[in-house]
Amino acid sequence: MTIIVTGGAGFIGSNFIYYQLREHKDDRIVCVDSLTYAGNLSTLAQAMKNPGFRFVRADITDREAIYRVFEEEKPDAVVNFAAESHVDRSIESPEVFLRTNILGTEVMMDACRKYGNVRYHQVSTDEVYGDLPLDRPDLLFTETTPIHTSSPYSASKASADLLVGAYYRTYGLPVTISRCSNNYGPYHFPEKLIPLMIINALHDKPLPVYGTGENVRDWLYVEDHCAAIDLVLRKGRIGEVYNIGGHNEMKNIDIVKLICKALGKSESLITYVSDRKGHDMRYAIDPTKIHNELGWLPATKFSDGLQKTVEWYLENREWWETIISGEYKNYYERMYGNR
Ligand code: NAD
Ligand code: TYD
Repeated sequence: MTIIVTGGAGFIGSNFIYYQLREHKDDRIVCVDSLTYAGNLSTLAQAMKNPGFRFVRADITDREAIYRVFEEEKPDAVVNFAAESHVDRSIESPEVFLRTNILGTEVMMDACRKYGNVRYHQVSTDEVYGDLPLDRPDLLFTETTPIHTSSPYSASKASADLLVGAYYRTYGLPVTISRCSNNYGPYHFPEKLIPLMIINALHDKPLPVYGTGENVRDWLYVEDHCAAIDLVLRKGRIGEVYNIGGHNEMKNIDIVKLICKALGKSESLITYVSDRKGHDMRYAIDPTKIHNELGWLPATKFSDGLQKTVEWYLENREWWETIISGEYKNYYERMYGNR
């Protein structure tokens, strides 16, 4: 198979590419990424040495460039990771989220229609379901939970999901959608909770916890997410949505404390800052469908995954030091300077 992986220079896409190159050695992987602030070619340095891998710098909203890649590569499948992915940035400026996350999805699916009804997988998020209350631990998101979004980011991802459903129903495009909970692991961009806290703690800088820190996320090690997408792509039922999550709900504050402990840093670094606007309280996925239909279960316990992640950031300083010395400095000042 030849698989186009969009957004493969980002966090989950790059982990997926390494998973594919390891698990499916006969497949060809073509990464299409425009290298926004969140994309890093250095992340793909090892993949570049593999003859079964090609990198194309292109924007998924650039129809001409995308059609050219399809003409050259004649792909059998597309996995669309490319997106603007950070909620805080979407609150600051929504427009690029609508462009990439919605129009980019449209262009990729149009290409799939034009070049032989190519198999299409949309990487979506549990955030399309909105949030759950803290006092109802019995409630979980299932695939039939109504879409109910909070942020411009989640609204753009939900719009894309609806469009994917429309392409299935209207044109018969062979699609699947997966909706995953929060990921963590290697190559996670330093603006997100876990890497931000690891890097700040290493510098003895304040650890900015939004609001009360009581918000709950359902954390999954990135490799488990990659394994799940791989199964959905190869064995999932066409036209279906699959939730992906590992029953691992954690409060933000508890995660930050675990990171302090893992690095031998004092919890006095923790600083409560003003809350995110529209901040979702709790996410929790019910993964029964993917377990029953495809036999998927997460393989990594949170304590092991967090330890591996902390070690990865300790061993790969060059990767994140390059990032935080660039445009990220301005972002950090804008977001946290007067918070
Ligand atoms: P990321 O921000 O780390 O990476 C996004 C990648 O997409 C970057 O390499 C960037 O350069 C590329 N990109 C952005 N706009 C592009 C465009 N217009 N054309 C081509 N490339 C473009 O994101 P991530 O955390 O790896 O998330 C990947 C996907 O998974 C997203 O669709 C996101 O919504 C979804 N998701 C993420 C999480 C999570 O916890 N991170 C959880 C569930 C779902
Ligand atoms: P994040 O990693 O941005 O993922 P998402 O918003 O998609 O869940 O944030 C995870 C949680 O951590 C979320 O509740 C917001 C919170 N958070 C902080 O408290 N401080 C921070 O500096 C960041 C980046 C996030």
